[in-house]
Amino acid sequence: TPESTAEREAAIDPRSAIGRLRRNAAARRMLAETLLRPEHLVLPLFVKDGRDSVTPIASLPGQSQWTVDRLGAEIDAIVAAGIPAVLLFGIPDAKDAEGTGAWDPEGAVPRAARMIKERAPGLLVVADVCLCEYTSHGHCGTLDATGSCVDSHATLPPLARAAVAYADAGVDVVAPSAMMDAQVAAIRAALDGAGHRDVSILSYSTKFASAFYGPFRDAVASAPSFGDRATHQLPPANAREAVRESLRDEKEGADMLMVKPAGPYLDVIQRIRAKSLLPIAAYQVSGEYALLKAAAERGWIDERRAALESLVAIRRAGADLVITYYAKDAARWLREGA
Ligand code: PBG
Ligand code: ZN
Repeated sequence: TPESTAEREAAIDPRSAIGRLRRNAAARRMLAETLLRPEHLVLPLFVKDGRDSVTPIASLPGQSQWTVDRLGAEIDAIVAAGIPAVLLFGIPDAKDAEGTGAWDPEGAVPRAARMIKERAPGLLVVADVCLCEYTSHGHCGTLDATGSCVDSHATLPPLARAAVAYADAGVDVVAPSAMMDAQVAAIRAALDGAGHRDVSILSYSTKFASAFYGPFRDAVASAPSFGDRATHQLPPANAREAVRESLRDEKEGADMLMVKPAGPYLDVIQRIRAKSLLPIAAYQVSGEYALLKAAAERGWIDERRAALESLVAIRRAGADLVITYYAKDAARWLREGA
């Protein structure tokens, strides 16, 4: 019958054999459309006040809180792995309502920055700029007169002050993550005014109000003591609004943009990629990492393959840089030829 002839011809039609090249490993390697390499990765590091302690973080297996005096060997390992950048988060011994620890020049972040710049001058040091690790109430800014809500405008001077303190300590890049309106412009002006014209801004420009930050908030004890961050972080359902946030930060002077979390928001990375010529970073956040770790620990997924797949997918969506707790492992896997 004609149907069966057509069927037989379709089965052998050379134009339908799209997968022919996949049969050869060398061809698969040559034709990879997206590359994932150690130089695309940024490792977050938690640095804390005090001395002589390395405390593993239960909710982030493989990650620790480091006092600066114990961090040296880890920095050497990061450099040896070929990772070009670290993202510093500070964990202070004491918190207060204003979050004054955020701009203390003897805080863990400035001390870590000075140590790293002396030990490994070629490693790019990025410092997260927010108040939530430093405020007693756990919010990302100063509270308004009612004490119930973050005052976005009043939070700009403290954020700018923290950014300048980190720049004074030698960081290459500051990464404001508080999602306060006009924070990029305020920080740019403060950096320039303090003579730090060479310090770049990686804005957490598109940051969603996400449940995936849970393990991080445990790690740095920064969960809000009341309320949540939905008043300033983005609603997960809104992609157009997410693009507007990044484009607004580009206008304010951001040097690089960021989408966070990464995996659940690949479409947003792709949309911003299409609208901006700036480099884009994507942050595979604590919850994304913890999910992979937990499943791997139970033997439910192949950790190496799943982690690398999640990272290459973020690159494929359009991210130039990927901030990930997997950076060290991934760099090693990639070198081993995973
Ligand atoms: C601070 C900040 C957070 C993260 C990065 N910077 C937490 C938050 O917004 O509550 C999350 C990182 C992660 O989950 O890995 N503003
Ligand atoms: Zn914050």
